[in-house]
Amino acid sequence: MPQGKLQAPRGTADVLPEEAARRRELGRICEELLGRAGYGQFESPVFEDTDLFARGVGESTDIVQKEMFTFEDKGGRSLTLRPEGTAGACRAYVQHGMHKLPQPVRLWYLGPFFRHEAPQAGRFRQFAQAGAEAIGSDDPSLDAELILLLGQLLEQAGTRKMRLRLSSLGSADTRAAYLDELRAYLRAREGELSDEVRARLDSNPLRAFDADHHGTRAVMAEAPTLLDRLEPEDADHFAEVRALLDEAGLAYELDPSLVRGLDYYTRTVFEFESDELGAQSGLGGGGRYDGLVERLGGPPTPAVGWAAGIERILLASDVRPRDEQRPVFIAFADGADARDGFRLVRSLRAAGLAAEMEQAGRSLKGQLKHGDRMGARSVVIIGGGGEGIEVKDMETGDQVRVGGAAQAVELLLAEASE
Ligand code: HAM
Repeated sequence: MPQGKLQAPRGTADVLPEEAARRRELGRICEELLGRAGYGQFESPVFEDTDLFARGVGESTDIVQKEMFTFEDKGGRSLTLRPEGTAGACRAYVQHGMHKLPQPVRLWYLGPFFRHEAPQAGRFRQFAQAGAEAIGSDDPSLDAELILLLGQLLEQAGTRKMRLRLSSLGSADTRAAYLDELRAYLRAREGELSDEVRARLDSNPLRAFDADHHGTRAVMAEAPTLLDRLEPEDADHFAEVRALLDEAGLAYELDPSLVRGLDYYTRTVFEFESDELGAQSGLGGGGRYDGLVERLGGPPTPAVGWAAGIERILLASDVRPRDEQRPVFIAFADGADARDGFRLVRSLRAAGLAAEMEQAGRSLKGQLKHGDRMGARSVVIIGGGGEGIEVKDMETGDQVRVGGAAQAVELLLAEASE
């Protein structure tokens, strides 16, 4: 016999029916919102060749270096549980020759993702993301469209205290030149920086923008920003994205220090955050990734997209399931024939009503209480010794006797359509 209590693995959680209903509601919002904007639902495998993420997400990222669940299959192939969805979407775009379809190809997805991170509030090793990707156009209206869609999703879910950070990274070349310039600037004023920033000066000079240290903040207030160094084409593209967001009335903070944990971004990047969430404040984010399809072996193809964390949205919002049908509950008086109840349940369900019957041996009083507690709209009481059937309306307390099962179904159907 195995010893010890069995529990779900660290960083994972069971989704019980009540939370499943909230998740379903979020899924419904995504489907409606994204479907109306022309996004088709897409599913990719939960595991892929490890190489896809190494090449797609980037060898130098925390995700690839530390956070992947990687394993070997029986044929000796290295596979990885997907840590994100964009690389898989681009792999599918190339594999299925989607560049031959009318562009852009718009896809959305919802499903589980896996990262081996230290679990804490809002951070899990298995989590769910809803994501949207528009592949095959560099039009700035696509960037704006996607940002607005994510904003609407979060708003319709009732997300509290949220804000949007927005920036542009330009091209990889612009970024590399800028990082050199920033390093040189920081080195020239090294004495004023915190030890922590100094230690990361080579590997991640952008971190200096997030520092709380007084001296570092003073240095950063005068530091060059990437936004000031964009090539004219990239600056124009970003200006158009901003103009479209302004026109739509979506507020954002321009944040040149916005860094994302994935390597594929070019031009627009953005992140929605909520102060409700504490340290893990990111609700969802994304941006343009104009080089990724080509890096995965496809033709040069611009693209843009986002993903949002379902658990984080649920934590920061009051999304409620839409009213679902209240059931009919079938109770038995002493001496009633349980088969009559079983037959009636089947008829009610066949007629499209939600119905359940007593199956735990409760007294009649206990059954009525149970019907009330489960939120039944009506309780049907099957009498003992062929005494007939009573239908009790749980809202008004009215009780009527009906001639038989067929009349009970008729009455309950009429009540349900009121
Ligand atoms: P990401 O920022 O790494 O982007 O993840 C998107 C969202 O997933 C985060 O904002 C967060 O809400 C949620 N998330 C990430 N890691 C965890 C975790 N360990 N626990 C709970 N939630 C988590 C991407 O994944 C990109 N693929 C987004 C994208 C799509 N960019 C372009 N297209």
